[in-house]
Amino acid sequence: MNFLAIETSCDETATAIFTDQLQILANVVASQTELHSRFRGVVPEIAARAHLQRLLPLIDEALHRAQLTLADLHGIAVHNTPGLVGSLLIGVSAAKMLALALDVPLVAVNHVASHLYACRMAAQRDIFPCLGLVVSGGHTALFHCESALSMKRIGNTRDDAAGEAFDKVAAMLNLGFPGGPAVEREAARGDPKAFAFPRSMLADDRLEFSFSGLKTAVRYAIHGQDLSQPAEPPTGQRRADLAASFQQAVVEILVGKTRQALRRTGLRRLAVGGGVSANQALRTALAVMTAKEGVELFIPPMSLCTDNAAMAALAVEKFRVGDLAPDDLDAEPNWKDTSARHGNGTPV
Ligand code: KG4
Ligand code: ZN
Repeated sequence: MNFLAIETSCDETATAIFTDQLQILANVVASQTELHSRFRGVVPEIAARAHLQRLLPLIDEALHRAQLTLADLHGIAVHNTPGLVGSLLIGVSAAKMLALALDVPLVAVNHVASHLYACRMAAQRDIFPCLGLVVSGGHTALFHCESALSMKRIGNTRDDAAGEAFDKVAAMLNLGFPGGPAVEREAARGDPKAFAFPRSMLADDRLEFSFSGLKTAVRYAIHGQDLSQPAEPPTGQRRADLAASFQQAVVEILVGKTRQALRRTGLRRLAVGGGVSANQALRTALAVMTAKEGVELFIPPMSLCTDNAAMAALAVEKFRVGDLAPDDLDAEPNWKDTSARHGNGTPV
């Protein structure tokens, strides 16, 4: 069986074709970086219009690369939550119409759960049960994953997501958009010990992340004590040192909390997904930590870390248990349940 998957939740338009044996036949991504960079962030209306323009050519491109036609498709998958509502609506509408026209089943998938399923796709073997760490532009969360279809959120951020912190600090350092890769490049020639930035929540028992204090500490380091005074963005070695020290703090927070969650749950496998998992310093630190803890680490290659549609192969698992999308499937911009904050866990 061949599935076509569509991803339009934020600022990458992506399509993929995979089989029910989880073989990726095509994985195509059109980034919108050039459209949003002068605004230093994603502009929702621009993102939605770009999806509208690009989606059909991207579906054609995926079919072309897989050497298939529409008649060879047996199912459609789409990320319908979470994300920017205008962007999600483009992908969901297209997916619903395609499924109707081709008379094939439609499966709706949670984008964040898909980020973890990318590990399953990359490993090409079972990775469950595992602890899941999702570090993206919109989410920083820990999941107890019994199986691909049973994930409970056991930890969350109280404020910013890790990727969001990278993007905001990149803007403060005048490093451009998207911030993560830019900060990583700048950090490569900096001293990670130059600035003693806070590791918020790390000493706390709760499985919660916080990055807003760290972000404010970087702002103070740039401005001095009076934030109302305009400050020249730092340059040269100082900028590299700020980037390296910030990145080091984020890595230590993520790795420390993940270690706590591994010890608490007793899980022996760790799956990591989302754009920030493309960061080499984080990948190395996670590899060192998991080796010490005797835990098996799964991190996808770069092409499956950042937003893509191949990770929506989680749809195959849903299809197998008959979990198909209803005719009135909607786009859900928000993750509805916030009970994870109170320690109850949130089924995905
Ligand atoms: O998963 P993703 O592509 O989209 C969302 O679902 O949000 O993640 C995007 C985020 C952005 O905040 C971006 O700055 C960050 O991932 N990112 C990185 C790196 N590459 C992307 N952060 C740190 N280091 C990187 N190399
Ligand atoms: Zn994502």
